Amino acid sequence: MNISKPAIEGGEPVRQTPLRFGVPFIGQEEIDSVVEVLKSGWITTGPKTQEFEEKFSHYVGAKHAIALTSCTDAMELSLVVAGIGKEDEVITSPMTFASTANVIIHRGATPVFVDIKPDTLNIDPSKIERHITPRTKAIMPVHYAGQPCEMDEIEDIARLYGLYVIEDAAHAIGAEYKNKKIGSISDFTAFSFHVQKVITTAEGGMVTTDNDGWAKELRTMRLHGMTKDAWVRISNSQVHYDVVYPGYKCNMTDIQSAMGLAQLDKLESFISIRQKYAKIYDSAFQQMPEISTIKRIDNIRHAETMYVILLNLETLKINRDEFVQCLQAENIYCAVHFKPVHLHSYYRETYGYKHGDYPNAERAFNRVISLPFSPKLTEEDVYDVIEAVQKIVKYYRK
Ligand SMILES: Cc1ncc(COP(=O)(O)O)c(C=O)c1O
Repeated sequence: MNISKPAIEGGEPVRQTPLRFGVPFIGQEEIDSVVEVLKSGWITTGPKTQEFEEKFSHYVGAKHAIALTSCTDAMELSLVVAGIGKEDEVITSPMTFASTANVIIHRGATPVFVDIKPDTLNIDPSKIERHITPRTKAIMPVHYAGQPCEMDEIEDIARLYGLYVIEDAAHAIGAEYKNKKIGSISDFTAFSFHVQKVITTAEGGMVTTDNDGWAKELRTMRLHGMTKDAWVRISNSQVHYDVVYPGYKCNMTDIQSAMGLAQLDKLESFISIRQKYAKIYDSAFQQMPEISTIKRIDNIRHAETMYVILLNLETLKINRDEFVQCLQAENIYCAVHFKPVHLHSYYRETYGYKHGDYPNAERAFNRVISLPFSPKLTEEDVYDVIEAVQKIVKYYRK
């Protein structure tokens, strides 16, 4: 068999130029849309943000969408509006970005982790009930990589125990569960427009809800607790406003919304390119016993935000970090999502978490690599990634 030397060992790299991770697809439409706002005389929250919210809520099938500066804010404001605070507990997944748990702590509440399923890396609904106590107030499922969690099971548990469901849908713009768009199912759904997500406003977020009262509170809460935002006041010469809560400052600007509108127009085409690339990756990796991919459950539409492989470490002479370094030497830049939250020092020191507490999340963490995956890639780029993975696997297999 022809085994070529990896670049890290002095061989020729698969690519001469770097293939970066998470490069956004920005076209002339985004540039024109942003320039129009820059020239319009109104650049902060105003008509473009309203239009973005209307189009987004229509797309996901939710009654309200409130645009914010991040998904982190979307989750935090949802917790505020749900009245979650001191002494409360909120159930979530350890296999997430730390902000999902951090915002629970900001409210004075305690995050309670429930381990993931080893095949989907989403929270295991069959393990949730044993973590419910009289203090539990909400469940925050995280749709890992863009695949929806098992929402029927989660909603059933929430109904039985009277809990709020606040979805971390940072990865799930455009995802569907049983023909329902993520964003139209639970009490609150938080989305991210961070640069590595399916659509981007550089940074940004959105929260959707069907509840009129909560939507009103979210709007007030995002801008200092003021009853009127600057656009309403200035465009109608209304000088008076009232502060009804000590609110936050996390309103999306019209510059971001202009970009978001142009990206939203492309969302379906972005997802179909991602689906095509996912199929190419899937068919290549299915031939390789050293690599596993994430199981896709039935009756969902995956948003395809990330393409993640899991190394079967028992078949390889190198570990995950070494594999990532090998890929980088081939000029393929990857990422790792996520170090389980309970293993970060704050969480270990504050709550006494240790290795072994969430074995499925920990085992996944040791094995996962997020490959370059974006509509910005060409098909040749995707085949370069496959060639690099194959080359490293062949050289380092046991
Ligand atoms: C699962 C998950 N939740 C939440 C966030 C936070 O999103 P944002 O950066 O928009 O606050 C991220 C960001 O990467 C994420 O991956």
